[in-house]
This record gives sequence, structure tokens and C-alpha cells, in this order.
Amino acid sequence: MTIGTLLVTASPHRDEALGNRLARQIASRMGGDMVVRDLAAEPLAPLTMDYARALTLRDPLPRSNATLGLSERLIEELEFTDRLIIATPMHNFGMPAALKLWVDYVLRIHRTFAPAPQGKVGLLADRPTLVIVSSGGFHRTGESKQPNFLTPHLESVLNTLGIRAPEFVYLEGLVGRRSAPETMIAEAVAVLGDAW
Ligand SMILES: Cc1cc2nc3c(=O)[nH]c(=O)nc-3n(C[C@H](O)[C@H](O)[C@H](O)COP(=O)(O)O)c2cc1C
Repeated sequence: MTIGTLLVTASPHRDEALGNRLARQIASRMGGDMVVRDLAAEPLAPLTMDYARALTLRDPLPRSNATLGLSERLIEELEFTDRLIIATPMHNFGMPAALKLWVDYVLRIHRTFAPAPQGKVGLLADRPTLVIVSSGGFHRTGESKQPNFLTPHLESVLNTLGIRAPEFVYLEGLVGRRSAPETMIAEAVAVLGDAW
């Protein structure tokens, strides 16, 4: 089984989120099927002690363990997709908690990355990956008065999985929006690379 596009989304605004609208528009242009992992609509369960012990102490876990099983399912979604799109809001200068929990399920030592003397080595095959970041305010322009920890953090996570060159696109200033949604989407599409 392969997936054309896996859309991982974490906005509490769900289908009304501009980032989700943009992601769906891009995915439908790509063709192929789309699987949506909506982390706001279906939140993941918190990590359990036996899962944490398995990762840190290498305590063996039975394959029937629910947390391990969920981790496997989420990783397999990544493994089987041709393209990955992550549509995420910025929450308090970083990624929302729902997306961070997904990271803690998929970035798993000895499964999706291996420790090595030169640093962590990704074990997943590389694939085109787009991250759409929506924010109420600005973080790139002269008028920005806030840091952006989301991009460097998520970029490092994706690199550590084996995704070498994720592309980031930004929808900024969504609170008290000055432009029409269609204009913002068109501006974001205009700066996308050839893969999209
Ligand atoms: C808990 C919370 C924290 C937020 N933190 C930030 C922030 O640090 N910087 C910012 O520019 N906007 C922040 N916002 C505003 C969202 O980024 C904004 O509503 C954006 O439109 C969300 O995108 P979405 O429509 O895809 O959910 C925050 C919103 C919430 C609910």
C-alpha cells in the first residue's frame, strides 16, 4: 500500500484553518490519494512509562503494547507516503503540543533514527516534504516582535528522520488579517518550489 500525500495537521481550527485549505489545494493538484492525520480532531494518547523505558533503557516491549503499536502505525504512514505535507499553527513560538506528541511517536531511537558518533542518522527514505506554518502575528518581517522556534525545531526533527530538505512556507498575520484568504494562499503558492 502506498499513499500519494500524507497530510499531518494540528490546527484546532480544523477545516477552517487557512493552512489546511492550502495543504488540501496542493495535495489535490498533486493527484493520487491523500491520507489525513488530524492531530487536533483525533489527539494521540500521552506516552506511557513502559514505552519511555523501552526507548531509554531498552526494556523489551511486547508487539501487542498499545503505545508501541500506535508508534508503528504513525511511522508506517510516513514510510508509505510519496509526499508529506505538515500544516501547523505556531503556538507560543513553537509547534503545538499535539504535533510535538506526534514527533515523540515517530522520531524513535533504533527505529527511525540511529545514534552515531557524528550525530543521529535518519533511517527513513527521503521524500518531498512541505511544512505550512500559520501564525497570528509575524516572525520574519521587520514588524515581527517574536522568535520562531518552530522552523528550526521541526526542520531538525525531519532531518533526523531522514527527510533532508523540507520546504517551509508561511501564512503570517492571520489574527487581524489584512489580506483576503485567497490572496494569502496565492502568495504562498507563488513561492513554492518545483516539487509542488
Ligand atoms: C495557544 C495559542 C498560542 C499561539 N501562539 C502564537 C504565537 O506564539 N505567535 C503567533 O504569531 N501566533 C500565535 N497564535 C495564533 C495562531 O498562530 C493563529 O491563530 C493562527 O491563525 C493559527 O493557524 P491555524 O488557523 O492554522 O490554526 C497562538 C494561538 C493559540 C491558540
